[in-house]
Amino acid sequence: MSAALKRVVGGVPAKPGAPRHFMELMDIGGAGLRHMIDLGAKAKRGEIAGKPLAGKTIALIFEIPSTRTRVSFEVGIRQLGGDPLVLTTRDMQLGRGESPADTARVLSRYVDAIMLRTMDVAKIRELAEHSTVPVINGLTNISHPCQLMADIMTFEEHRGPIAGQVVAWTGDGNNVAQSFIQAAARFNFTLRIATPPELAPPRELLAWARAEGARIELTADPHEAARGARCLVTDTWVSMNDDQDQAKINRHNLLQPYQLNRALLKSAAPDAIVMHCLPAHRGEEITDEVMDGPQSVVFDEAENRLHAQKGVLLWALGLA
Ligand code: CP
Ligand code: NVA
Repeated sequence: MSAALKRVVGGVPAKPGAPRHFMELMDIGGAGLRHMIDLGAKAKRGEIAGKPLAGKTIALIFEIPSTRTRVSFEVGIRQLGGDPLVLTTRDMQLGRGESPADTARVLSRYVDAIMLRTMDVAKIRELAEHSTVPVINGLTNISHPCQLMADIMTFEEHRGPIAGQVVAWTGDGNNVAQSFIQAAARFNFTLRIATPPELAPPRELLAWARAEGARIELTADPHEAARGARCLVTDTWVSMNDDQDQAKINRHNLLQPYQLNRALLKSAAPDAIVMHCLPAHRGEEITDEVMDGPQSVVFDEAENRLHAQKGVLLWALGLA
């Protein structure tokens, strides 16, 4: 992987004997990701025997806020018999300058896996490079792979295998959009992305995905992207890593035409489902009518974070 690509998208290449980190979908083959989804579905059906995480402690570290990621990991770990240890960087030396490398060296002596949510992908990469236990990416400025595991699971529950289907993204080419691009390469669906040109996902990532054989179409017209799609997806116009003051003014003007509303949904396939990772800004990127409408699966999607992440944990810890 070139240095430029790694800066934009790359995870931590697996070293011999390295733990099974869950950093980026691109780091893991399609078969491995499919295995995790299957495990998550088994967990949802109540088919995971016993308490596979008994005796295991998982650190869940948050540099920025979270509702779903925090609660779904904490509850999921408990349900599998493990002990979640929720930490915020505010309360850790990591928050006042201790390096991610030293933090990794220390935590690896205490816990069995580490999940980190951070605004700076460089921090989680450094953590993973120096950790001897698996590191799970709970969102960075450039990706949100746990969300995509739940999204794939949700699509397939409602509409069957995602391979060969058309998914349309409308809005900001943000971290979740960038994980959708990686997912399109790994799960073989067509991804149409409608963004203002200024907010398009990084060219290097698109080039990577296309070189992997992914079908990615980029447009500035949300109706063109939505045409005939089986799934419409959007996300907040201002992400946690964006400059909150500046971003609001410019992005709201730029992104208004990309709102997921009734007119846009009409352009999609009649049985299209609607996804959003949440939290939503109702009336901005998505209307109440669409979010609460019959085609919306956003709360199934949120529930599936719990199940899909059990698959990720079991895989990362080498338990299934
Ligand atoms: N979708 C998601 O990751 O939500 P939280 O920010 O609440 O964790
Ligand atoms: N794109 C959003 C996702 C939140 C789960 C953000 O990064 O703030």
